[in-house]
Amino acid sequence: MTAINNANSFSSVALPLAGRVALITGGSRGIGRAIAFRLAALGAPIGLCGRDEEKLTITAKELESTGARILALRADVTCEGDVLSLVQAAEKQLGPISVLVNNAGTGRGGFGPVHEKSEAEWDHIMNTNLKSVFFVSRAVIPGMIQRRSGDIVNISSLAGKNTFAGGSIYCASKWALQGLSGCMAEDLRAHGIRVSVICPGSVATDFMGRGPKDASKVLSAEDVAHAVAMVLTQGAQSFISEVHLRPVAKP
Ligand SMILES: NC(=O)c1ccc[n+]([C@@H]2O[C@H](COP(=O)([O-])OP(=O)(O)OC[C@H]3O[C@@H](n4cnc5c(N)ncnc54)[C@H](OP(=O)(O)O)[C@@H]3O)[C@@H](O)[C@H]2O)c1
Repeated sequence: MTAINNANSFSSVALPLAGRVALITGGSRGIGRAIAFRLAALGAPIGLCGRDEEKLTITAKELESTGARILALRADVTCEGDVLSLVQAAEKQLGPISVLVNNAGTGRGGFGPVHEKSEAEWDHIMNTNLKSVFFVSRAVIPGMIQRRSGDIVNISSLAGKNTFAGGSIYCASKWALQGLSGCMAEDLRAHGIRVSVICPGSVATDFMGRGPKDASKVLSAEDVAHAVAMVLTQGAQSFISEVHLRPVAKP
């Protein structure tokens, strides 16, 4: 472990993720952005992506100003070509990916009675919340297997554990992500790779195109980032397979 001493970091605090390259999908805003700051503060060089280049650049500059090593690349995680370029560039510029956080996701178009949903909405939600995890994980896992180590953290949702009226395509995407995550964990544990899934309740982000009515009654993006850090700093011989995250206040 190493320690750093600069104004923007936790001076003299050991850095448990020093040198562990972390790739965070959808790191430009919301939960992914908070995860990027948290893992950078723990010493990880950070690769991040999103589709909106302007927002990505702003976040990357803010992260760089903390002294972190950053690679920010415009990439659509629903497009396999973009994903392969992203993983290649991150490994070339930062080093082998040791932590993958599959965070990119969306709720827009994913809610409402199922008979009112379109095929385009189905494809958009499933591709963004599920197929992307398949694409990015598939690109990163072979290197982790070679090195016999790695952490993959999938950001799911309590909507992947519960059913409710109007949950429709979004719930389906996150239930499927739960299944994929559990199977990945079993496939990869023999290779020294730990797969965890985090299921937050509502988080104060622009995920639905607007923030919550009362941010004090839901989770913050930093709460989720804290859980990711907790999972990644778990003792090496074990892994936290699933986290359910709820706000203290009742919504
Ligand atoms: N907010 C909640 O209440 C909540 C609760 C439980 C779980 N979650 C999950 O947490 C994750 C993050 O959500 P959030 O609340 O932070 O949402 P957000 O504020 O809307 O941020 C989503 C991030 O993902 C990126 N993204 C979306 N589609 C992408 C694509 N096709 N390719 C690359 N990047 C993409 C966005 O950047 P661009 O738009 O620029 O591409 C952005 O950086 C999602 O998986 C979500 O399902 C959210």
